Amino acid sequence: MTTMGFDIVCVSAFTAEDGAMGMLLKQQLMFGLLVVLLAAYVWLRHVVARKIRAGKMPDRHVRLSPDGGDHEQVDGELVRQMRQYKADEGGGCEPTTMRRVCVELPDRPYDILIDRGLLWRVGPLAMEAAGGRSAFIITDTNVGPLYAEATAKGLADAGYATFVVSFPAGEPNKTLATVSCLFDQIFAAPTPPDRESVVVGLGGGVVGDVAGFVAATLLRGVALVQVPTSLLADVDSSVGGKTAVDHPAGKNLIGAFHQPRIVCIDTGVLATLDKLELSCGLAECVKHGVIRDESLVTWLDQNADALLGGDADRLTELIARNVAIKAAVVAEDERETGRRAHLNFGHTIGHAIEAVAGLTVGSAGEGDYLRHGHCVALGMVAADHIAVSRRLLPADQAERVERLLSRLNLPIRRAGLDGPELLRIMRHDKKARGGVLRFVLPAGSVGAVEIQDDVTEEEIFAAIGYLATG
Ligand SMILES: NC(=O)c1ccc[n+]([C@@H]2O[C@H](COP(=O)([O-])OP(=O)(O)OC[C@H]3O[C@@H](n4cnc5c(N)ncnc54)[C@H](O)[C@@H]3O)[C@@H](O)[C@H]2O)c1
Ligand SMILES: [Zn+2]
Repeated sequence: MTTMGFDIVCVSAFTAEDGAMGMLLKQQLMFGLLVVLLAAYVWLRHVVARKIRAGKMPDRHVRLSPDGGDHEQVDGELVRQMRQYKADEGGGCEPTTMRRVCVELPDRPYDILIDRGLLWRVGPLAMEAAGGRSAFIITDTNVGPLYAEATAKGLADAGYATFVVSFPAGEPNKTLATVSCLFDQIFAAPTPPDRESVVVGLGGGVVGDVAGFVAATLLRGVALVQVPTSLLADVDSSVGGKTAVDHPAGKNLIGAFHQPRIVCIDTGVLATLDKLELSCGLAECVKHGVIRDESLVTWLDQNADALLGGDADRLTELIARNVAIKAAVVAEDERETGRRAHLNFGHTIGHAIEAVAGLTVGSAGEGDYLRHGHCVALGMVAADHIAVSRRLLPADQAERVERLLSRLNLPIRRAGLDGPELLRIMRHDKKARGGVLRFVLPAGSVGAVEIQDDVTEEEIFAAIGYLATG
């Protein structure tokens, strides 16, 4: 390099004096410059490659594309919002008003941290909670292009050799086939996984469930860090250790319990979440209110407009309240042998509706399908109807919940549902024991529930019929 520099200085000294000689020297100068540039390029590539190998820089995204599609394309507006968010935060790591909820499990308690800008702090938080040398970020094709780079940088800065693997977004891809493709990518990484590796789930509930299942089964189980990005994942799926993929025979039929080491909720990323998805997350919040906390139902009603408008402070408050409810239920009954089943309120009929009207394994794509939160909303309306007919819940309380769901842009009626078909699916659900259906129904008023396993077919058909009424 120094020799090259010396040549260049000499050349500029001679060119003004001798024409022919000047031409020759000019050519030499051009050639020298080219060699310098080439050498600089080769040297830079070498330095970057070494840093990646040493885990000091994130590797480029390894994109998983079973359908061969181009997953780089993200909505331009989302990219703009994400850039704005990055600019606002400046990638800064100053804690603002971090909220912390602990899941008090006897053998391995873990923290759920909630703050704006937490994405940039995932690295040190993961290192503290899980240790290890390599981190595999699992994300989807919507969330990855927005947030994987920031997350990967934080992990690399914290000392992890970091790799990003991604799969096409959406419930139809929550399958074993996706898991298998992810394993192919993970084992092909320049730093292969070891028992100390960490899997980081960056995305909505689908990503969380898939990443959790990968973490539970990779080398018989490695540490999991959940970084949820949808409201539903924030308040529900990222907490509690249930991981699963779907099967054509039904939802979540293949899975494992595998608790995360830490859950990092960055409230800022909700700015890029579709409003429809925001409402779906709110459905699970209504569920939490109905099963445990009447004041949450009132609060949701009072703050509905602000929440739907994306008010950051209200959303933080909402997430903290809901995560606290979920954490308490999980701590009480980690493996769902008893009261954790209360979290299934609205899901018995909801899952069956999702199986027939939702976007599930094998379905073609978008279109007029119901999302998980939509189905849960309808399931809650149906369950409330059964509770009212059993005189477990006053009719005005059921109407109150319906009004709230409606204010939150959630469906409360659905015509054309086939009662016998839904019943058949419900009997195959993994929560049905020997074909006996277990219903979680409000007990006395909003804020408390009980499990009932003597709900009759007639009551179920009546509730499905009620969903079809004006
Ligand atoms: N494990 C559990 O305890 C548990 C609990 C509840 C639900 N779930 C599961 O969660 C899934 C539903 O989760 P979901 O509603 O988050 O669905 P999802 O993961 O499909 O996310 C919804 C959509 O929003 C996109 N997205 C997510 N975050 C984003 C962001 N910040 N910006 C832009 N786009 C974003 C996703 O790419 C996806 O297209 C279902 O499969 C359900 O079974 C699991
Ligand atoms: Zn749910």
